[in-house]
Amino acid sequence: MTDYILAIDQGTTSSRAIIFDKAGSIVSTGQLEHEQILPQAGWVEHDPKEIWDNTREVIGQALSKANLTRHDIKAIGITNQRETAVVWDKTTGIPVYNAIVWQDTRTQPIVDRLAADGGVERFKQKVGLPLATYFSGTKIVWILENVEGARAKADAGDLLFGTTDSWVLWNLTGGVDGGVHATDVTNASRTLFMDLETLQWDDEILAIFDVPRSMLPSIRSSSEVYGTAHTSSLLREVPVAGILGDQQAATFGQAAFDQGEAKNTYGTGNFLIFNTGTEIVHSKNGLLTTLGYKLGDAAPHYALEGSIAVTGSLVQWMRDNLGMISSAAEIEDLAKTVDDNGGAYFVPAFSGLFAPYWRADARGALVGLTRFVNKGHIARAALEATAFQTREVIDAVNADSGVPLTEIKVDGGMIANNTLMQFQADILGVPVVRPVVAETTALGAAYAAGLAVGFWSGLDELRTNWQEDSRWTPQMNDEERNRQLRNWKKAVTKTFGWVD
Ligand code: G3P
Repeated sequence: MTDYILAIDQGTTSSRAIIFDKAGSIVSTGQLEHEQILPQAGWVEHDPKEIWDNTREVIGQALSKANLTRHDIKAIGITNQRETAVVWDKTTGIPVYNAIVWQDTRTQPIVDRLAADGGVERFKQKVGLPLATYFSGTKIVWILENVEGARAKADAGDLLFGTTDSWVLWNLTGGVDGGVHATDVTNASRTLFMDLETLQWDDEILAIFDVPRSMLPSIRSSSEVYGTAHTSSLLREVPVAGILGDQQAATFGQAAFDQGEAKNTYGTGNFLIFNTGTEIVHSKNGLLTTLGYKLGDAAPHYALEGSIAVTGSLVQWMRDNLGMISSAAEIEDLAKTVDDNGGAYFVPAFSGLFAPYWRADARGALVGLTRFVNKGHIARAALEATAFQTREVIDAVNADSGVPLTEIKVDGGMIANNTLMQFQADILGVPVVRPVVAETTALGAAYAAGLAVGFWSGLDELRTNWQEDSRWTPQMNDEERNRQLRNWKKAVTKTFGWVD
């Protein structure tokens, strides 16, 4: 009998289950999108029940497509959209409010209130993050302050908080019937509450946020057995043995295990992660300090991260809100109808700007318009925005590390776009490299789970699974690259100050 690992990837737009074999190849996939609930400008929510229902269904899809049962699955790994906050009643299993998604900016007044004493960087030394709406901590505060009855229930110890890894784990291991309430260090490092050195919740910060510790999951490593799937699950008795936030999972799936290795994922947003080994490095250039991974009892690996809020979601916005294209893939055809951006620059500061600027007051801008500009130029400017934003976070990584990256490993949905990947290499001035298995997020979670149960022997075996598929090399001359970068930076300044 051949064994496999099943990874659950609970992402921003969809939930997937992917089954991997020992070579790290995909055997089958199940996938379902969930609703993006947008009640007002700046608010983004998901229905946690829909997410859990979809998760169960995609597990069934993946198993049946490959004609497999729970007996073929050696372990389950979970990876997830990070920072998205779910708060539920542990006695009923029912969420008290929709999940507040990482992109949601409603908590800016809470951020401002907390920053009034000590500024947005007041906890940065301890937790690696500035105060920002992005992280889950302020989302929990919002729920406690705005959902009727939530504060009293939380104080009585009846509410649980989790990012979607914890929500899925708790439900998968039994929910009200003994579900395991845990998360891993990578997800915990996105709350604003975890001390990077002790890897524990910080009581002083919890007191300032007025969040009861009893709501929080226990913080575990990224690779260990947390529990087994409940008897009601198709996967009953299979151990759940790996959890990594999706960006850290992609880094792990890219086999970027060592200090100095990096990857860039092109998803709803873009996330560049640079492994700093066992050393905690504090950025001087707008990057976050975060956990990379922790395997069982071994020392944790840390990372610097350049988070960009809007990249792929700009293409979705052009499809859904403007109707300029009917599928995301069409953007490339439209962009190819022209040779360049025609002078147009599109800065998609829809949730403010994340790294390296961290400007909550920014909003999107399309600048450089003349009567010459057409749909093709705007499509091109939208794609180029992803590449320019990436260039800016790589500049920050290079400045922090002092050793410039000589090539960049990429993954995520947008890397199917050749025009973007070529422009990315051009604007970076270094090659961009894509692996054969581009589903690195799910693969990383599978690796973490498989390592914990001895399915894979260790990191060396995983390294040999990584194979190069394609490579884009820079073709733009320095003068043109510098001209474009100057224009982009000028465009970015036009987005500042839109929100008072
Ligand atoms: O930090 C947010 C990130 O984890 C979301 O990733 O791929 O679901 O958009 P994705």
